[in-house]
Amino acid sequence: MTLYGVGLGPGDPDLISVRGRETLDSVDVVYSPGRLSRRVATEHVPDERIGDLDFPMTSDEERLREAWKAAAAEIAPEARAGDVAFVTLGDPNVYSTFGHLRRTLDAFHPDVDVEIVPGISAMTAFATPLDVEVEAGAGLALREAAGGSAPTGPDRMVLFKVTDAPETARKLDEAGYDVRFGRRLFMGADETTVTADADAVADRDYYTLAYAERRGLETSSATDEFAVDAEAEVADD
Ligand SMILES: C[S@@+](CC[C@H](N)C(=O)[O-])C[C@H]1O[C@@H](n2cnc3c(N)ncnc32)[C@H](O)[C@@H]1O
Repeated sequence: MTLYGVGLGPGDPDLISVRGRETLDSVDVVYSPGRLSRRVATEHVPDERIGDLDFPMTSDEERLREAWKAAAAEIAPEARAGDVAFVTLGDPNVYSTFGHLRRTLDAFHPDVDVEIVPGISAMTAFATPLDVEVEAGAGLALREAAGGSAPTGPDRMVLFKVTDAPETARKLDEAGYDVRFGRRLFMGADETTVTADADAVADRDYYTLAYAERRGLETSSATDEFAVDAEAEVADD
């Protein structure tokens, strides 16, 4: 029997994949590592099939290792007896807690089979609400910008874990980037914020990302000339 790592997508319950939904329907227990993933999971499975796992909010690696060992010890017997799922927001293979679970199972319970059902990651989903087009041929890097840090280098970056937006924005502006922020994207219109004003997302909220683009970036595409043609047609009318 199998442990499925299921990506829930970026937040809206209907942005899960068909395979992800079918997997959640079919398993005996759905483990959720956090409040937000639980909130999405309960849109798909009844409360009584959800298994909560307790993870301390700490960067103490020893305590985290203990928590992962405890989670793996709880999940392993269930995954031997039947099918179970562990859900994460976005994709289980992108900056996700699922990697810790998989490594812990590999180390202490190597007989447990693991399969992954991918989900839409915030890494790509951000583009729609932030109105960004990443054209063919363009590079896009994923970085972290916690604690007011501001990575630079690539022309276009998605920045996860933005916890001090004004400081990150200030440094990126100095380094020649335009920045936009997205908070709680796809988590309901009353929770979502999309803004270029870092002060509007100054308070700390873990579900905040940024898109940074080098100022004055030259782009060209085969269909650019349509805009010129259309302008000329309007002028002729
Ligand atoms: C640990 S990473 C998890 C990424 C996730 N596995 C994925 O594929 O999207 C968490 C970071 O992703 C970003 N993030 C994830 N979902 C988001 C959302 N719906 N809105 C804004 N940021 C989000 C935030 O920057 C957050 O700090």
